[in-house]
Amino acid sequence: MDLESKIENGTAVIGVVGLGYVGLPLMRAFWEAKPGAFGVLGFDVDPTKIETLNRGGNYLKHFGESFVREMSETERFEATADFARLGEADAILVCVPTPLGTHLEPDLSYVEQTADAIAATLRPGQLVVLESTTYPRTTREIMLPRFEARGLKCGKDFFLGYSPEREDPGRKSHSTQTIPKLVGGIDEASGRVAAALYRKAVREVVRVSSAEVAEAAKLLENIYRAVNIALVNEMKVVLSAMDIDIWEVVNAASTKPFGYQAFYPGPGLGGHCIPIDPFYLTWKAREVGMPTRFIELAGQVNHAMPDYVVQRTADALNLRSKAVRGSRILVLGLAYKPDVDDVRESPSFELIEKLRHRGAEVDYNDPHVPATHKMRNYDLEMQSVGLSPEALGGYDCVLIATNHAAYDWQMVADHATLIVDTRNAMKGVTGKREHIVSA
Ligand SMILES: NC(=O)c1ccc[n+]([C@@H]2O[C@H](COP(=O)([O-])OP(=O)(O)OC[C@H]3O[C@@H](n4cnc5c(N)ncnc54)[C@H](O)[C@@H]3O)[C@@H](O)[C@H]2O)c1
Repeated sequence: MDLESKIENGTAVIGVVGLGYVGLPLMRAFWEAKPGAFGVLGFDVDPTKIETLNRGGNYLKHFGESFVREMSETERFEATADFARLGEADAILVCVPTPLGTHLEPDLSYVEQTADAIAATLRPGQLVVLESTTYPRTTREIMLPRFEARGLKCGKDFFLGYSPEREDPGRKSHSTQTIPKLVGGIDEASGRVAAALYRKAVREVVRVSSAEVAEAAKLLENIYRAVNIALVNEMKVVLSAMDIDIWEVVNAASTKPFGYQAFYPGPGLGGHCIPIDPFYLTWKAREVGMPTRFIELAGQVNHAMPDYVVQRTADALNLRSKAVRGSRILVLGLAYKPDVDDVRESPSFELIEKLRHRGAEVDYNDPHVPATHKMRNYDLEMQSVGLSPEALGGYDCVLIATNHAAYDWQMVADHATLIVDTRNAMKGVTGKREHIVSA
């Protein structure tokens, strides 16, 4: 039976490579797909993840306990670290990391390794779709040659496309199924087959003319966010010097029913996307001799935010006749955004390190992150401290980095002696406000 028939009647086996924030929910979306009963076969290099998944455990806490268990109780689900089994999948969806190297250059080593593994078992009739965020032409330049080297022809023997993941972990209003899915093929047949597959699992598929359009659209979305966040961060600094509250200004501007979309300031960029993806385009643009001034300017403004917050903290302590050196500072929130445990690229790490560098004694609390683990740039070896009225009162300053819903902001306001608020978390509290500084 050909691949399109297998997709149509739901007998195709869907392989997902890279079972993280993107790959695991994608696997679930195909496991749930109607009317088909697709088999889902997950691949990851991390044996702990594979072991956890196969016994029904879930390391993505925001999806809840039953998310993997329900899948693992069926015959149609399996996770493996054995990449020789890639040939069992009819469609292979690639969701591996695409980080930056030390000089802000794209690190495509994970995509390359995966492409090599797929090439080793590629067989006629397979569809491969790259979902990892990357610069335009990655699918064509990195994946296609490896596959065609096997003597198979794209669009005829196998199919290849790109479909960006637009997952926003922790967002309740949307899921993998409800976020429209862009799909672009390396050729006409690949685009058609890939779109047919995603239509089974996702409510709306938007087919574009090429893999390159889909790759570039994803970057545009993230660059748009990075640039607008930089704009509002710059406005924050300027308006603060004029004693005008940026949060009230953004909310006021947001009442315009058209032509304006609200972005909010913060202590710096975090997550696997916004601090990283724009530089994929910057790097690729050099190949065609094009500058990316907006992207780089936005990067400069956003990267300056942790220093700005640290300086605001130092100034606030200074006003109370305290030096940063020797001050006890509690950072609230280690995750880069509310209500998730994702700490990748979180500005909280930079804040902690910079404050420590100035001689402060720093603790953190995060209900979602009980302890730090070794990361690419940081190894803080810290544990989340308890939060109580007495504990809060013991710090010279409480620095709010992430506005988790679990926090009792009134308790923080009532018991902290000084609060530096980067998230407008203090907006609803009552009582005295002289000890609250926005940053
Ligand atoms: N997290 C998001 O919100 C988000 C949103 C949209 C797009 N993306 C993009 O999706 C891609 C994946 O991001 P993520 O957040 O899921 O990352 P992640 O780190 O949560 O997951 C990646 C997984 O891939 C595994 N892995 C690493 N190398 C591998 C290999 N060679 N073969 C198989 N598995 C391998 C890792 O063990 C990990 O489980 C990235 O390109 C990212 O930019 C992420």
